[in-house]
This record gives sequence, structure tokens and C-alpha cells, in this order.
Amino acid sequence: MAPVPHFPIKVGHIDDVQELRKGKPTTIPERFVRDMAERPELSTALSSSPTDIPIVDFSKLVKGSKDEVLQLANACEKWGFFQVINHEIEPSLLESIEKVSKEFFMLPVEEKQKYPMAPGTVQGYGQAFVFSEDQKLDWCNMFALGLEPPFIRNPKLWPTNPAKFSETVDVYSREVRKVCKNLLKYIAMSLGLREDIFEEMFGVAVQAIRMNYYPPCSRPDLVLGLSPHSDGSALTVLQQGKGSSVGLQILKNNRWVPVQPIPTALVINIGDTIEVLTNGKYKSVEHRAVTHKEKDRLSIVTFYAPSYEIEVGPMAELVDESNPCKYRRYNHGDYSRHYVTNKLQGKKTLDFAKIQA
Ligand code: OGA
Ligand code: NI
Repeated sequence: MAPVPHFPIKVGHIDDVQELRKGKPTTIPERFVRDMAERPELSTALSSSPTDIPIVDFSKLVKGSKDEVLQLANACEKWGFFQVINHEIEPSLLESIEKVSKEFFMLPVEEKQKYPMAPGTVQGYGQAFVFSEDQKLDWCNMFALGLEPPFIRNPKLWPTNPAKFSETVDVYSREVRKVCKNLLKYIAMSLGLREDIFEEMFGVAVQAIRMNYYPPCSRPDLVLGLSPHSDGSALTVLQQGKGSSVGLQILKNNRWVPVQPIPTALVINIGDTIEVLTNGKYKSVEHRAVTHKEKDRLSIVTFYAPSYEIEVGPMAELVDESNPCKYRRYNHGDYSRHYVTNKLQGKKTLDFAKIQA
């Protein structure tokens, strides 16, 4: 994740939502109450015919199934989101990371605040992407860490409590990294490209993890768990806590479609970087999280992206007369910095790369 921005940031007072929730308020503080246009229409989202996002069977990809590669191509092109089953990460490891994450969030707030996310930065405990005193806040507590390459690690932010936290994050992240590398291989195949094209292009890939904890909210109709955004990564891997309420929603045909959790499956989504590299063939899709009146929710999210050093732009193979180049070339580190120094606002961040028609 990119370094501290150079401009002074005033974020005002940010309530810790877990602490707020303890009082079970029936009135939500103004800073969390969304403007009308942004409020989640929970009833329509749930009653709108639930079209499920595609499922990709990783074990079939490994066995060389051409049909599954087609399924993957369809998922990437039509949805930008899919759930991967049989992904080779042990269910016990999924449980362990969930357990330490939950234990961390359940610590007293003073303990968690030993690892503060400084305003304008994206690692540590707190709320990311807040840049002004009047910006609306998400009904969410986050804890984020940079993982790879080692220079993005900030050892001061790695908790010693829960005792197994750091070790579990490391083991889990190595496994998720393998899944990302493999999926990128199959994504390349699904585009008719050499399977190692992304691996070679990316250099030493950047990887970060973010745990999002959404406490229940007495007025889920007024707040958002996480503001609408697309991810700046190449690929994102999201694990939903066991027994999670439905919280993640993706924007499809101008409607918010809920993602139904499938036990032990991982939710994968295309990030902005793959959108640019594929010249818009595989697009990043806007998504958000909503909250629940009684249930809390945990998500564990991995962002996988190229080295900050590389230049990113549409791949020559995906540009031709019928599909002219839609994005400019830029340094990926510059995009990462741009992403983390702006508030989440749908797909606006990608204007950075768009060639205006
Ligand atoms: C994210 C994200 C959604 C969720 O962290 O980028 O989109 O369900 N999270 O927590
Ligand atoms: Ni996201």
C-alpha cells in the first residue's frame, strides 16, 4: 500500500462503530446517515429476483477443463465477480483466520488503538479513505496490513494479541497468494493469452489484507457498511465469515445484487488494474456492503496487485480497430497512490486512467 500522503488531512472525530453499538442507539449519529440517494433500499435489493453471481470450480480448472475456462471468461466479462469453490485452501485455515480476526475485533478498543490507522493511510485499525470533516462514515471497523513485498510491512502495526494473529495472517496470505497467481494464469488463458503473461508483467506482486468488521446497526436503511467502490487491485479475494448475513452487494445493470455467501467459497473480483490491462474486456465492478439489524458480519479481504514499479496500460493483444485503446499508460505506483488518497466513490478513481472520448 502506498505511503503517507503529503497534504494535511482533517477528518474530525471518528466514532468507533463497535463502541457506538454497545449503547444500541436507536438514533444514528449524523455522520453515518447517508444522503437519500445513497441509502440502501434494503427491501428492493432483497426482493429483486436474486440472481446469483457465477461459481467457478477451481479443481476443474486445474484438471484442464475448457468448459470451466469458458465459465471463468463469462464470469469475468459479464459479472466481474464470482465465487471460487474447491480452491485448495484448507477449511481449517479459513476458520483460523476468521477466528483470530474476530478475536482481534473483540479486544477492548484501547488495545486495538495501539495500532492506529493514521488519517490518509490505509494500514492499521480504524477507518480508511476518510479525508474531510464532513465526509460520511461507514458503519465498519477495519484492520489492514501490507504484506508483500516486505518493504510495505509496518511491523509496529502487527498485533501481538491475539497470540496467533500474525502467524495465521502469514500462513493464510501465502495460500491466498497461490490462489491469486493460479487464477491469473487461468484468466490469461480465458483471454487467449500466454498463461504466464501476468506473472511476468507484475514483477514482485503487492499483497495486502484487510479485515472488515460490521457490527449490527439498528437502522441499516440509513447507513452503509462500506461505501460503493471498485478495487484498485488486479484481483481481490474476499472471505466471508461463517454464518455471515448477506452484506456484500454488486452493481449490475444499475441494481444492487446481493452476494449470497457459500460456505468455504471465496469471492473473487476483478480490480481496476485488470480492467485497464484488458482494455475494458474484464471490468472492475462497483460494490458496497450493507449492514444488518441484528447480525454482525466479518469479511477478510486480500488485494493482489502488480509491483509499484511497473507501467500499466492496455495489452496490445486486446486493442484493435474495433476495440480502440480506452486507457492511457501509467506507473502502477502512481495509480495506487491516487487510489488511497481519494475517498471511495464508485468507479471515479479509474478516471485517472481513462482516455476521454
Ligand atoms: C473491500 C470490500 C466488501 C465486504 O474491502 O474492498 O469490498 O463485503 N469489502 O466487506
Ligand atoms: Ni472492495
